[in-house]
Amino acid sequence: MTAPATAFARVADEEVAFLGTDPIPAAPYHDPDWYAAERQAIFLKDWIQIGHICELPAAGNFLRRDLEFAKASLLIVRARDGVIRAFHNVCTHRGTQLVEEAQGKAATFSCPYHRWTFGTDGALISAPDFEQFHVSKADCTLPQVALAVCAGLIFVSFAPDPPPLRDWLGDLAERLEALPVARATQFSEYVYDIDANWKLTYDNFQENYHLRFIHPRTGLATLSPDNPFGYPLRYGFHGQHRTQTIWSNPQPQVKPMQAVGFGRGYAAAMARALVGGDHDRDYFALFPNFFLLGTPAQHFSHVVYPVSATRSRGVIRIYWVGDDSSASERFAREHAMATARDIHAEDRAVIEAGQRGLSSGALTHIHFQTQEALCRHLYKGVRDAVEAWRAEGVA
Ligand code: FES
Ligand SMILES: [Fe+2]
Repeated sequence: MTAPATAFARVADEEVAFLGTDPIPAAPYHDPDWYAAERQAIFLKDWIQIGHICELPAAGNFLRRDLEFAKASLLIVRARDGVIRAFHNVCTHRGTQLVEEAQGKAATFSCPYHRWTFGTDGALISAPDFEQFHVSKADCTLPQVALAVCAGLIFVSFAPDPPPLRDWLGDLAERLEALPVARATQFSEYVYDIDANWKLTYDNFQENYHLRFIHPRTGLATLSPDNPFGYPLRYGFHGQHRTQTIWSNPQPQVKPMQAVGFGRGYAAAMARALVGGDHDRDYFALFPNFFLLGTPAQHFSHVVYPVSATRSRGVIRIYWVGDDSSASERFAREHAMATARDIHAEDRAVIEAGQRGLSSGALTHIHFQTQEALCRHLYKGVRDAVEAWRAEGVA
């Protein structure tokens, strides 16, 4: 005989009433003019997550990040002084891209064209026959982009003078810093391109309404008779950011492969959240395009970067603290990433089908129910930002 499941109560209409109930315009999910406004109002202004400090453990470590929404290539470098900075990956002589590798370690960066050479702090160190120029080396420093770190997560902003990252994150900053992601030393990564608007792609991860239809196999653990859609326990709204507490089935079904893989270690692995467990799971969505799903042992993060109005690039990572301590832990980590990929593969086709429908222009509006409140909240944040930017342009 099985024990009764914990009583579940869905989030009530009144708790999300402040978001309204009106249909949502469809154009922001496919219109190039709307996307052009989003780039200016949001993506070239706000803090955007682009990496983790564990990728830059030592002086000279660098990352190149090409960001289509900004039409920019960035060079993120930990300098000899230990500080991580972001520069445009652009030689100040005549604009050649300095670095081709996606990541590496270097003491200096030399331009392939005429060998201007820059330090890890962005300063121009040497340039052949520099006496022939009519400018000082001090005026040839690599153009810098604002960079800040919270909970080990690296954010950049293309705004000339952005607010401090901690002000932007508000009360979520401290909560994020208490999570294991702040101490992560490595991660598994999965990058994908998708023919869908960034909000449509992101919203798929903000609602559980689709679980029983799209993930009948992989999503079993999140469904139960009193919560047949696997809805969350709570939503939280923090300015433009939002949180939810994912409900976990107190009687999750153990997949046969998991049982075989862990054997008698399964209970211990569950306790450490390596294979899912009965603890609450917190989801932190940072405006505009980042979320982190935290469990005590692993952290799943997802960033959806827009490429165009109808194309996006997603970066999914699972962060880990320390090396594997046993074969079971190795298995657990691989299994966690493989599961994430499997689930995402199930989502992908339906997201692209949604984009084809929206791009046809057949709909003027779409609809969000109460349990899609996070999608509505994202749209509201985007709409408010675009309207504020347009008003500034008119003023
Ligand atoms: S363009 Fe870089 S050295 Fe000339
Ligand atoms: Fe899904």
